Amino acid sequence: MPAGLITGLRGVDLGVPDVAAHARFYTEVWRLSVAAERGGSVYLRGTGAYHHVLALHPRERPGLLSINLAAADRKAVDDLHRRVKAAGAPQCDAPAAVAEPGGGYGFAFTDPEGRVLRIIAGDARHADARAQPDRPLRITHLVLNTPQQEAAAGFWVKALGFEISDRSLLTFIRCNEDHHNIAFHPGESSTLHHIAFEMDGIDSVMRGAGRMRDAGHPIEWGVGRHGPGNNVFAYFVGPDDFVIEYTAEVEKVDASYRVREPKEWAYPPGHSDLWGATPPPSERMKAAQKKIGFAAGLFRP
Ligand SMILES: [Fe+2]
Repeated sequence: MPAGLITGLRGVDLGVPDVAAHARFYTEVWRLSVAAERGGSVYLRGTGAYHHVLALHPRERPGLLSINLAAADRKAVDDLHRRVKAAGAPQCDAPAAVAEPGGGYGFAFTDPEGRVLRIIAGDARHADARAQPDRPLRITHLVLNTPQQEAAAGFWVKALGFEISDRSLLTFIRCNEDHHNIAFHPGESSTLHHIAFEMDGIDSVMRGAGRMRDAGHPIEWGVGRHGPGNNVFAYFVGPDDFVIEYTAEVEKVDASYRVREPKEWAYPPGHSDLWGATPPPSERMKAAQKKIGFAAGLFRP
């Protein structure tokens, strides 16, 4: 398996009924900043180098429009295009210039469960990237619900070169040194479970949690520390019931990392994380974690 074609999870495009309200929340409370605005869409960046990590587009209903992966270069995009087609992607555009702020060269496709993905290289990067207290650096992982956990992970491994990191209730996969960039959670349909934003340490997670509480978004699960990935977490239900996470201290792994199986990650009775201090996930959050689906059709900006 040639590794290194995909270098990271660049971010997501969301469809939302009220872009202005989401943009206000994601800047003033969540603390991303505006990188660009065009045609009613707002492009938000973290403190990292990616031109934007979260794009908000006007749509009638909330939905996930695209998961965006960064490729190493144009050749990697072309190689991945061949691999995705060979793996039987139901829909697949040809690689072309990306007509959105940040630009680049890439293509859109759907995976076997209809998730819409884009692979992009050569897009603009910020020269002022640096971790800042109390601001998200970037999106570090997505968790996706699937009725076919192993098959879903299998496509990402075969077509995109991801590696399995761990199996608990979830299947964790990675494309770089972070323990996971994507995880598959058992579910009745192919929906979004949550989006995790990386913060600059535990103090920033806590400060963010306080600001979210002030803004009417109490912690729905956490603060805790996950087993797989060893990351500190706090989960919230954001606007339109998108579930969002502040996280920090994601474990860095290399090729020597040993994949562990579910029984190795079992917590003691009554615990839902390594510390055992947090109550279990709220019913409100668990309901929200089934609500956001993928918009039909390839995303073409
Ligand atoms: Fe997470």
